[in-house]
Amino acid sequence: MTDIVSDNTIANEMLHETIEYPWKRCFVAFLRKSALTEMVEANYQFSTELPGFVRKHWDKVKKLTLVDPFRMGKIVDLVIRTKDIPGDILEFGSYKGGTGILMGLLLKELGSDKKIHLFDSFEGLPDPDTTKDKGYRKGQFRSNYDKLQAEVEQYGLTDIITLHRGWFSDTVEPFIAANNSPKVSILHLDCDLYTSTMDCFPQTYPLISEGGAIILDDFNDGGRGEKRAVIECLRALESTACFVACPGSQSYFIKNQAPDEFAIQDLDMYYDVVELASNEPFLTWIEKDIEEDYLVKLEALLAANK
Ligand SMILES: C[S@@+](CC[C@H](N)C(=O)[O-])C[C@H]1O[C@@H](n2cnc3c(N)ncnc32)[C@H](O)[C@@H]1O
Repeated sequence: MTDIVSDNTIANEMLHETIEYPWKRCFVAFLRKSALTEMVEANYQFSTELPGFVRKHWDKVKKLTLVDPFRMGKIVDLVIRTKDIPGDILEFGSYKGGTGILMGLLLKELGSDKKIHLFDSFEGLPDPDTTKDKGYRKGQFRSNYDKLQAEVEQYGLTDIITLHRGWFSDTVEPFIAANNSPKVSILHLDCDLYTSTMDCFPQTYPLISEGGAIILDDFNDGGRGEKRAVIECLRALESTACFVACPGSQSYFIKNQAPDEFAIQDLDMYYDVVELASNEPFLTWIEKDIEEDYLVKLEALLAANK
């Protein structure tokens, strides 16, 4: 943590410790198959915009993803909320394709003509920078291009989803050039590492339309590589953001959206925990697993930062 603080990326430790707490405490539960099955069978609501969508497709995507139904639900909500924002969807870090396929099934159900571009090495993670990334190793999350292409075909999504195989440092710039700097409505960053984020976020952030969503799967994973990279890039662009905390490690922000009165300022960025504090299904689940009242922690955080 000290390296990040001395780097001046964040200052308010209480804020970040609180938002990162569920992932640090429940990391295993978020991934355990039996816990995920319990989540789906317990009838929690994962998406507010389209309740039931994640549950309906969970059997298709569960074998293809590391992302739990709560985070999936937030992705569903943001795809729906940005359906009229110009541009397509880009995902960096697709692994076996779970989040990408779910977004594809959703676009199909919505009758949207948006496209989805999935970027991955299919060789797993590159070498983490040990001074900036914690908890990851080279080669982790290796997957298979042909198998994912077959899944895309099986679900009738070839008109919607295109796979881009290779390291971001080799694929992003050619993609942007070949598509004449395409507009983007959703950027889903799920590539875990500081360096990987640096290889895709600065290049694609300018393509996002006003009102588009940036979903950060690893923002609150405690490793702080993605958080550090995103904040550094925004600062370099003389931009700010209001990061909305979501279930687990996930946060999102809307491009150029001003923070509301409840947002907590930390240095030049803003953080919103109100959505999390009102996510009753997630708080119920987390309480069961942490055996503590997480809402009390969130309320203390809000009170301390009034
Ligand atoms: C956590 S997984 C993605 C999970 C996925 N979204 C899901 O639904 O489960 C992270 C992925 O990012 C990819 N990745 C990370 N850094 C990369 C880079 N610099 N270039 C290409 N792929 C990268 C890895 O290969 C891995 O598949």
